[in-house]
Amino acid sequence: MKGLILAGGAGSRLYPLTLVASKQLQPVYDKPMIYHPLTTLIEGGVREICLISTPHDLPRFKQLLGDGSRMGISIEYREQAKPEGIAQAFLIAESFIGNDAVALILGDNIFYGNNGFGEAFAEFTSGATIFGYHVHDPERYGVVEFDADGKAISIEEKPKEPKSNYAVPGLYIYDNDVLEITKNTKPSARGELEITAVNVEYLMRGTLHVEKLSRGFAWLDAGTSTSLHEASAYVQTIESRTGIKIGCPEEAAFRNGFLSISQLAAISAAMPNCEYRAYLENVVQESRRIENSKSR
Ligand code: TTP
Repeated sequence: MKGLILAGGAGSRLYPLTLVASKQLQPVYDKPMIYHPLTTLIEGGVREICLISTPHDLPRFKQLLGDGSRMGISIEYREQAKPEGIAQAFLIAESFIGNDAVALILGDNIFYGNNGFGEAFAEFTSGATIFGYHVHDPERYGVVEFDADGKAISIEEKPKEPKSNYAVPGLYIYDNDVLEITKNTKPSARGELEITAVNVEYLMRGTLHVEKLSRGFAWLDAGTSTSLHEASAYVQTIESRTGIKIGCPEEAAFRNGFLSISQLAAISAAMPNCEYRAYLENVVQESRRIENSKSR
């Protein structure tokens, strides 16, 4: 499965922070925001990733992430000239997607908890898998309505009168039909290729699977100054309590077998002396200890 990270947009609600650096490069406590969706894809076993951003911001992402080899993955880059909709990502990355299935994640979505989306990625075979997350303000999102058996029966984009409290978060998994479906989708009244229109088409075809995310799961949005601050506070609270970092792509790559212990050791040794390096060194040490105790 291929992975797309969509990290364009205007970020106008974070002005003036976004005058020089895009929203997805802003710090969420101790890391750039983009590390979170990147980690989610890696945790899902995705190794080939294409990052899409504006012509203005793309050079900064390249500077930050390079070709991905430092994280045991490969990263390609594509431009979105104008924010003409989330679903436009599939058209921009068509040659990257080829004949594969694809997971699309938004660059400002932060997920944490349970076993992540491991099962959803591992069990995906065809159609579309999206998620439903209970929120207090569903009218800001795509909203899914479920029947009594928990089956999705409608999806509406930013409805004035939402039919449920279940919003669709910014992680979507599709089979290769998504290319043909997007090509046949017309821009909405606001001039965007809507991801909700793609999801509605899968729903009509009977191949949409909507999984409700459980109560213990966190989906954070960092699009305003307040929510960005809250996301930072959340990450800081969990990290200082557990000593485990949220959104650490090198660690996720290691735990998924994309990097060996010695590769992770070499990568952390090349970092300047900092907390992030100390954390990765600790991951290496702990893993070596476990290896040694197994071989004894
Ligand atoms: P939004 O938060 O809706 O838009 P934005 O990031 O431009 O922010 P603001 O409303 O403050 O101006 O977008 C959600 C995510 O999707 C965000 O990560 C940006 C991304 N996106 C694109 O990259 N291209 C697009 O065409 C759209 C619509 C969104």
